[in-house]
Amino acid sequence: MVDIEFVRSRFIKHFDGQTGNIYFSPGRINLIGEHTDYNGGYVFPGAVDTGVMAEVRPNGTNKVMAYSIDLKDRVEFDVNDPKGPNATWARFIYGMVKEFQLLGVDVKGFNIAFAGDVPLGAGMSSSAAMESCFGCALNDLFGNNKVSKWDIVLAGQATEHKYIGCNCGIMDQFASVFGEEGKLMRLDCNSREFEYFPFKPVGYKLVLLNSCVKHELAGSPYNDRRNSCENVVKAVQAKHPERSVNTLRDCTWEDLEEVKGDVSAEDIQRATFVLGEKDRVLGVCDALNAGDYEKVGELMYETHKGLSKDYEVSCEELDYLNDIAKECGVTGSRIMGGGFGGCTINLVKDELYDNFIKTAKEKFNAKYGHEPKVYNVVIGQGSRKIC
Ligand code: GLA
Repeated sequence: MVDIEFVRSRFIKHFDGQTGNIYFSPGRINLIGEHTDYNGGYVFPGAVDTGVMAEVRPNGTNKVMAYSIDLKDRVEFDVNDPKGPNATWARFIYGMVKEFQLLGVDVKGFNIAFAGDVPLGAGMSSSAAMESCFGCALNDLFGNNKVSKWDIVLAGQATEHKYIGCNCGIMDQFASVFGEEGKLMRLDCNSREFEYFPFKPVGYKLVLLNSCVKHELAGSPYNDRRNSCENVVKAVQAKHPERSVNTLRDCTWEDLEEVKGDVSAEDIQRATFVLGEKDRVLGVCDALNAGDYEKVGELMYETHKGLSKDYEVSCEELDYLNDIAKECGVTGSRIMGGGFGGCTINLVKDELYDNFIKTAKEKFNAKYGHEPKVYNVVIGQGSRKIC
């Protein structure tokens, strides 16, 4: 977690010397269930112990005065400004202010300084960590804490859609807001029902390897993937007006077969991955309940293959990390998050861990001229006020 005193010292230095309240929200991992959230499927995320910390104090005006400690950049905007700032990082604050206003919260001006220790562009949802951290602060300072957790999640997602340009699902914001220490969560993105799963695989470690290929989802092929899924849904709706088909969750393998001639082969390929992934999440839950980590790992490798070959959100570096994992006997390994760079998530037996990390560093360095970064996963607590 970011150092509280560090954030406080910057807040004092860059504003009027007074202190405010401090809030923290984490990034997330996802064991399995990728690109299923916007398709009404299941996801299996958990919060991590790194994230975004902000110190915030209402300033008695209508101006937001924001300072990004990491970027050493300062931005000001009026809470009623219809356009908002240009700097992307400040648009996360602006978006949350706008969404809170839509929820009926009378947001006034405030000073805010924030810093993060969740790696940017690593597929660990630094964006969701910002949104939920700012949401937690706005709720506490202007909303009497009456805004529900789900409304904070949805405000974060709306910020991505409207102010950042990424048509993401709800997994990241959900994990950041609802996370609990030591627990993964299985969320049904259709009904929004979820269950906590204590996750302490005895004899295994969960480790992320960051390819350091920057993943940038806004305006990326991420939105194209979503469009492909929606094309298939529309084709199934056209064939079956009698059924209620809202997302790929409501589509069967037979439906895919039936609409093959109505959409592109690429769209079918994308939907094939999504339908398979829905079953894999449920398979992982059963395997976890049975303590069968070999099965969990097998399904993780299948997901990687699907994300790489069918959904096409991998890259050479991520595929290489996956190959190394296989060679080292790692139980399960796959791309984590949106893809197009970022991390693989690896379930590895304790006794194989050291060799895996050493081999991955050596081989990756030999091929790409730098080592992957290694993050041992600690499943942490969701959004909260620190003081
Ligand atoms: C990104 C999005 C999520 C989800 C994942 C892929 O992290 O923000 O909503 O779609 O990609 O599973």
